[in-house]
Amino acid sequence: MAKYIINADIEKSRIDKNIYGNFSEHLGRCVYEGMFVGKDSDIPNVNGMRTDVVEALREMRLPILRWPGGCFADTYHWMDGVGPQENRSKIVNVHWGFTTEDNSFGTHEFMEFCRQVGCEPYICGNLGSGTVKEMSDWVDYINNDSLSPMSELRRKNGQDSAWTVKYWGVGNENWGCGGTMRPQYYADEYKRYACYLRDYGGKPVFKIACGPYNDYYEWTEVLMSQAAPYMNGLALHYYCGSGNGTSTEFGEKEWYTNIAAAQKIDEYITLHSAIMDRYDPEKRVALFVDEWGTWYPVEPGTNPHFLYQQSTVKDALIAGTTLNIFNKHADRVQGANIAQLINVLQSVILTDGAKMVKTPTYYVFKMYADHQDATLLDSWLENSKIEYDGGTLDKLSESVSRLADGRVCVTLCNLDMNKGESISCALRGMKASSLTAEIIQAEDAHDINDFDQAEKVVARPFDGARLTADGFAVDLPARCVVKLILK
Ligand code: AHR
Repeated sequence: MAKYIINADIEKSRIDKNIYGNFSEHLGRCVYEGMFVGKDSDIPNVNGMRTDVVEALREMRLPILRWPGGCFADTYHWMDGVGPQENRSKIVNVHWGFTTEDNSFGTHEFMEFCRQVGCEPYICGNLGSGTVKEMSDWVDYINNDSLSPMSELRRKNGQDSAWTVKYWGVGNENWGCGGTMRPQYYADEYKRYACYLRDYGGKPVFKIACGPYNDYYEWTEVLMSQAAPYMNGLALHYYCGSGNGTSTEFGEKEWYTNIAAAQKIDEYITLHSAIMDRYDPEKRVALFVDEWGTWYPVEPGTNPHFLYQQSTVKDALIAGTTLNIFNKHADRVQGANIAQLINVLQSVILTDGAKMVKTPTYYVFKMYADHQDATLLDSWLENSKIEYDGGTLDKLSESVSRLADGRVCVTLCNLDMNKGESISCALRGMKASSLTAEIIQAEDAHDINDFDQAEKVVARPFDGARLTADGFAVDLPARCVVKLILK
């Protein structure tokens, strides 16, 4: 029986709801077919946006959506995607399969999608192949209510009042697909671009600099030492997965290797945060993990450039564990965007023509939504280690928060592929009188939600938890994500 202590009277940071964000790129079938089918489609839609998808994302309480890339962002010229559809340029999507991009989904369509879903837009500008003027004009076009050539153009294109886009990325992966830059060079470029992104109408622009990947600590060091005062956020990208075997082809070895790789993000966040702390001890600059998730070889028979993969309970556990890690780093991590929203990498939704399924990862995001804007509470878990081929990893993952109405939300993952674990928790600083529980689990570790069986791995009520004299006890079955709500 693992010992667990929750100090309900020791409050830590607020868990920013934006940690529960998603990412959508012009890649494969994410935007086209996934989000947008066009007004004339037979697939039910409102202004071209899929009704089933919008409803599912509203239910999941998606707080923020990053767009238009990714690598695509540093080739994207936003003017190609505004104005009458028939006049929009057709371009080649050079990063993702050299497909034709007809720009029918542009700024107005993205803002409409966010409006329908009720989420905050997060736009990534083009620093790699764009110009300062182009990025600065985009902010003007979107946020400016007074008279300017850009606001006039927006009005001419059918949008009278300005929108509000607070979150702006200044380039993407500029150490790689966004220009192969040195950190010193990017830091200078970043400052030049950021300088011209104005706060129109008192709407502050929250500027997010391209940050490191994995353990690229030198990037963080240079960016923080040279540009910290000019940024509000620094991005971090981290993908885990495997080079062989699709998302559903795995044995015990791959199971533990993938989950251990996911746990590694804790170390990366800790060490990048330590560098940030030296330049920004007040933690003014947020760490935005604006791309993360599993990345496997694509499903057989699908276009290798479209990055389409299925999702099992292993992905649900990786999502649950990663979100617990973000919660625990809520003092520095104030935003995150899993890659990607629909039909690409670790999606929350998959579509096939008019059909749609919610993946196991979707159910984790929906289950964890209670943590959004809640207060992180102090907790400690006696965690045993699992030994696997060549390494060890933590068996359990957890985080705890207090919701605005005083209830306490506990999320737990048992990462063991085959064995259950019982936990006995001392709940200090609070006397609970009721407990409800939900679980995501799969009968077979390889189960998926497919178009002919859409609800195999979903969240269900759970009866394996009970109140005890000093807190609660819970019997976690193998490979499960569990949420407890205590009152
Ligand atoms: O999410 C797919 C790609 O991964 C993005 O375009 C890029 O930023 C990252 O390398």
